[in-house]
Amino acid sequence: MKILQNQSLLAWNTFHIDVQADIFAEYDNINELCTLLQRYNSLPMLHIGRGSNLLFTNNFNGIILHSNICFYHLNTQTEEEVLLEVGAGVVFDDFIRYAVEHDWGGAENLSYIPGEVGASAVQNIGAYGVEVKDIIHRVFTINRQTLEPRIFTNQECQYAYRDSIFKNEMKNQYIVTSVEFKLTKQPRLSLDYGNLRAALADIAKPDIADVRRTVTAIRQQKLPEVAELGSAGSFFKNPVIDKQHFDELRQLYPTIPHYPAPNGVKIPAAWLIEQCGWKGKTLGGAQVYDKQPLVIVNKNNATPKDIVTLADNISRSIKEKFSISIYPEVNYI
Ligand code: EPU
Repeated sequence: MKILQNQSLLAWNTFHIDVQADIFAEYDNINELCTLLQRYNSLPMLHIGRGSNLLFTNNFNGIILHSNICFYHLNTQTEEEVLLEVGAGVVFDDFIRYAVEHDWGGAENLSYIPGEVGASAVQNIGAYGVEVKDIIHRVFTINRQTLEPRIFTNQECQYAYRDSIFKNEMKNQYIVTSVEFKLTKQPRLSLDYGNLRAALADIAKPDIADVRRTVTAIRQQKLPEVAELGSAGSFFKNPVIDKQHFDELRQLYPTIPHYPAPNGVKIPAAWLIEQCGWKGKTLGGAQVYDKQPLVIVNKNNATPKDIVTLADNISRSIKEKFSISIYPEVNYI
């Protein structure tokens, strides 16, 4: 276990915001986690993964927890599938590499997403037509107050687009310690998103390693490398509007991109942001990324205020032009 006082969080958020936490603690197992939860029960507490989906707006006057629970355990296997339990502190992309190396399919479309396994199950990360909920079987947690373990089935997690029970009614109540993934030994590739199938066209019979390589290459091309340029990936969620609103917009913008969604029509926020002229625009040190305007980058020592103000200005202009509300995907702390 590692406990540090007055710790800079610069290395712990991909936006590269230089704030401090009163205490930063990293634990290696569930016993250590319970010790920390008990000892620091009275302090404000924030559990982070790699800090790839948050924006620190201030110093954190409390304790930041980070999991170093890193293991792979094959819980069950049949002819068709495996149930693989992975520690919450494992880097998500390392888990995918491990799965692909064993020829277990299902996770490959999520390649190269920053973050860790525990956070993936809270956030329901997604890319290229797959969401992590599609491969999550069970989520192992500890109750912050009672220190009791609790296992959530996939259904109990109430997954939706970038959403789960851990962001709503159970917010701040449970800490994910490991996730059990259901992976298949006879992978069926999921290639229907965007240009994925076209990008694999040269390969006669692509396998999951090809998908992993291709998704990684597309992401590297379109999204900033966080080590070089701070960001938190997509800053906003893609909004869903009702059919009538969509029909009205399509009269005005016949080429408006859109996807079906359970409760309406999903519009790419990147398109809305580009239409409002934001691509490449800066405010202080913050910039709307020129290759993918859904991403805000820390171009030049951006302050949290630069980023928040830029995001607010973007939301406002989209509301004015399209009567659509967009909301941050990034959590403000
Ligand atoms: N678009 C533009 N201009 C651009 C870029 C995109 O108009 O410069 C429009 C195009 O119509 C394009 C559409 O936006 O077809 C969708 O773009 P993209 O495929 O890049 O996906 P996205 O909807 O912008 C989502 C996820 C990403 C994920 C990609 C790929 C959210 C909030 N974001 O972005 O996730 O990688 O799909 O599946 O759902 C993240 O969450 O941090 C993230 C990067």
